[in-house]
Amino acid sequence: MSCILLFKDWLLTEVSRIGHCCYVETGFCDGTSLLPAVEFGVFDKIRGCEVRHSAYDIMVDRTLSFDNVFLSEKKSTDFLREVCKKEKLPCVFWLDAHFQRHYDPSLPSMGKDDYPLVEELSIIRERNKPDLVLFDDLIIIQSEDNPYKRQVGEDVIVRNVSMAMLNDAIGDKFVPDHCLAHIDTGVMVYRRKQ
Ligand SMILES: C[S@@+](CC[C@H](N)C(=O)[O-])C[C@H]1O[C@@H](n2cnc3c(N)ncnc32)[C@H](O)[C@@H]1O
Repeated sequence: MSCILLFKDWLLTEVSRIGHCCYVETGFCDGTSLLPAVEFGVFDKIRGCEVRHSAYDIMVDRTLSFDNVFLSEKKSTDFLREVCKKEKLPCVFWLDAHFQRHYDPSLPSMGKDDYPLVEELSIIRERNKPDLVLFDDLIIIQSEDNPYKRQVGEDVIVRNVSMAMLNDAIGDKFVPDHCLAHIDTGVMVYRRKQ
């Protein structure tokens, strides 16, 4: 698990290039990234989703005083379908929703939504905006075509997804850029072609 504070300077430079935009985070957990995104003060709006009720409730409380923060207690694919349709501003997506059971072992597996990244990217692909897409935890994808894979615990390992599948899902209007792969967990960036 990483946090956007680790690449704050890079992110703020990107946002200053994009201009007015919305920060969109899937799986905001305890707000380790979402709260700094609010505090940076550079995003017009902040949108996020989380499936775990307890984490959602805590974050609703913590963000009550900000009228540009919109949180949903939804699974990421449903949330992104809604946001991608209604949000007219360019978005900076921080895709970080996976393995709810890792955070609360009492919860059931979510089946395909345990690791929804391929579907998430295919939803974002349909937008026609100068979005920036980032996802975390590149190291957990154990495919041959992932040079950044590392040994990780069984409960967060991903065996059925490859880099080729992710690149196909986001489509040819976005180009992968490994500029943030130096972050320990592996952060992948997709930029929209100009
Ligand atoms: C890696 S943590 C997120 C850390 C946080 N994004 C950050 O940057 O500090 C993953 C979170 O995603 C949530 N989650 C897991 N599967 C999800 C899904 N399909 N939709 C929405 N949230 C999900 C988990 O409950 C957990 O809180």
